[in-house]
Parts: sequence; C-alpha cells; structure tokens
Amino acid sequence: MSDQLRTFAVEAAGVRKTYPGAGAPALDGFDLTVGRGTVHGLLGHNGAGKTTAIRVMTTLLACDSGSVRVAGRDVRTDGRGVRARIGLVGQYAAVDEDLTGRQNLVMFGRLGRLSRTGAAHRADELLERFGLTDAAGKRLATYSGGMRRKLDLAAALLVAPEVLFVDEPTTGLDPAARRDVWDAVRNLASRGTTVLLTTQYLEEADRLADHISLVARGRVVAEGTPAVLKARVGDDRLELTPEVRADADRVPGLVRPFASAEAHVADGCVSVPVTDRGRALTNVVGAVREAGVDLADVAIRTPTLDDAFLELTGSVAEEPGTGDTGTERSDVEGTVPA
Ligand SMILES: Nc1ncnc2c1ncn2[C@@H]1O[C@H](COP(=O)(O)OP(=O)(O)OP(=O)(O)O)[C@@H](O)[C@H]1O
Ligand SMILES: [Mg+2]
Repeated sequence: MSDQLRTFAVEAAGVRKTYPGAGAPALDGFDLTVGRGTVHGLLGHNGAGKTTAIRVMTTLLACDSGSVRVAGRDVRTDGRGVRARIGLVGQYAAVDEDLTGRQNLVMFGRLGRLSRTGAAHRADELLERFGLTDAAGKRLATYSGGMRRKLDLAAALLVAPEVLFVDEPTTGLDPAARRDVWDAVRNLASRGTTVLLTTQYLEEADRLADHISLVARGRVVAEGTPAVLKARVGDDRLELTPEVRADADRVPGLVRPFASAEAHVADGCVSVPVTDRGRALTNVVGAVREAGVDLADVAIRTPTLDDAFLELTGSVAEEPGTGDTGTERSDVEGTVPA
C-alpha cells in the first residue's frame, strides 16, 4: 500500500519508436506522467501514436529509445513486474464467444492464478459491479457491443491491476452503451485504480479524464485538466459573420486591439478570442461597423475542448472548409500535418 503513495503510475520520457519500414516515427519524443489513482486520457487523431504508446507501456512493444516506468517498474528491465501490475483492454476483445459471461470471467481468473472458488467469487462480484448479473449465464455471442465492452473491462480487473490501460473504450458503441462504459470507468477510478485511456472523442475525454494529454505526430503537444486546456484557448469567443464574405479577411485586423489572441477566419465566419465578453462585444462590433463591414450574424461562444484540440494540434488551419463549430467528426478526423 505504501507503494500507492509513491511516485507516478506511469512515467514515460523521450520515447521514440519507428516501425520497421515506416518513414515517420510513430512515437517521436513522447513524454507522459500519470498520477496514481487518476483517470488520464490520451486524446488524438487517427495515427497520432496512441496505440503505439499503449503497446510500449504495456510491454507488448519495445521502444527504440527513451524510458518508461509503470507502477514503479521499468518496462525494459522488469517487464514481468510491469505485467503483474497492469490490466489491458485492447481494441479487440480477448473473450470466448461460446462461453457465458460468467464462464469467461472465471477462465480469466484461473489464468490469473486465482483458485476455482476465488475466481468464481470474483467473477460474481464483477458481474454485479458492471450490471451484468442478469446476463451472466448467457453466451457471449448474444451480448450487445456495450455488454461486451463491460465484460472486457471486468476481465481486465479480475486480478485487481494497479494500472488499467484501455484503448478506445467506446469506439463503435451507441450513445447508451457509451454512457454505461463511462459509468464503469468512473466506478473503477473511484475505487483507486489508475486508468489510462485513449480516445478520439473529445467529449469522452472531457467527461472521464482528470487529466488529458493531447497527442499529435507521436508526442504530447499539450496537457492539463479539461478546464485548463479549455482556458488555454481564451475565455470566450465572439463569432462574427460579415454580410459580404470577402470582408471576413479584413476583420482580424480590425478587432486586434480587443482580442486576447489572433482571430481565425473559417468559412466566412471570424472567431475572435476575448476575455471580457460584455465589453468586447461592444468594442468589436463597433470597430467592425465603423470600418463599413455589415454583419449578418454575431454570436458569443464559450470554448470547448474541440477548440483546444484544434488550436493546440494546429489542425484547424488544415481544415478551412469546416465552419461549423460543433463536435462532429469532420472537425477532428482530418490528418495532422507531418
Ligand atoms: N504495426 C505497424 N507497422 C507499421 N506502422 C504502424 C504499425 N502500427 C502503427 N503504425 C503507424 O504508426 C503511426 C501511429 O499509429 P497508432 O496506431 O499508434 O496510432 P493511433 O493514435 O492509435 O491511431 P488510431 O486512432 O487510428 O487508433 C501511424 O502512422 C501508423 O500508421
Ligand atoms: Mg489506436
């Protein structure tokens, strides 16, 4: 238990990995620290390096250079020690379709060296914790995607890992199943398990994680609590849409004295970061009108994690066509410049 109070659950520094034959490195100076007992999210686009990082941290893949300690053990020199202290829920379930949910868990418990009665006891406890008691006797082939994901989580917890790695917990699940899995992850964290999860969903990271690391091109480009990351992109945004689309490019220059950071133009709409929204609204709209630019629309928006992501990974510049500021996938799926 004294171990629990010491150090970090994960400490990675300067990790590099280039897959054989690949041009660009998958990990390129990847640094990460994860506090014990926290839920930490690795958030990034397709190909950012999240799964590679998870594979290195769980000893499935050797890195080319850098250091990684998990639960206080070095992955290179004490892989066995690391493996004894972690759980991994990968992209694909490691469960048997023909067995029932309960049989699957008992099997995992036996593989984890629990006694027969110990495994059965633990299986029942976890089935209840994940709300799967009613489905315990049914074959896995009949489970929904959400139920499977929960069974995966339960399987990874049979031998109470210190650190649980979960790669994309809810990809492919419907909203109801996603919420169930979120509840399950929160439940784990409240019992002291450190959870490191990867996700492409900003909303998921926002809701689940105490800390988020934004990953792009094989490294962490920004880190903090969801609130801190949001704060990094300005307190609020004024969104101005000129009547005449061509006027949009003039607006950033006009509003510069009142903006807290450079304004962005996307799809005829100008997004102006401001600190004091009341005063800024009057000043900004006044300055724009005075310059003879008529506005079709003015809106005030509180920044979201999407803004942080786009701003900090720099990919907003790559996606000039996405004027909509919602959380839809088109905003976040674009490729990150190499
Ligand atoms: N086995 C492999 N061999 C060669 N290249 C690979 C291999 N696995 C991943 N890569 C490359 O390494 C980079 C990082 O991939 P990785 O799977 O770690 O990204 P990711 O962030 O998990 O992406 P996703 O969100 O799609 O799961 C990508 O450019 C990918 O194409
Ligand atoms: Mg991945």
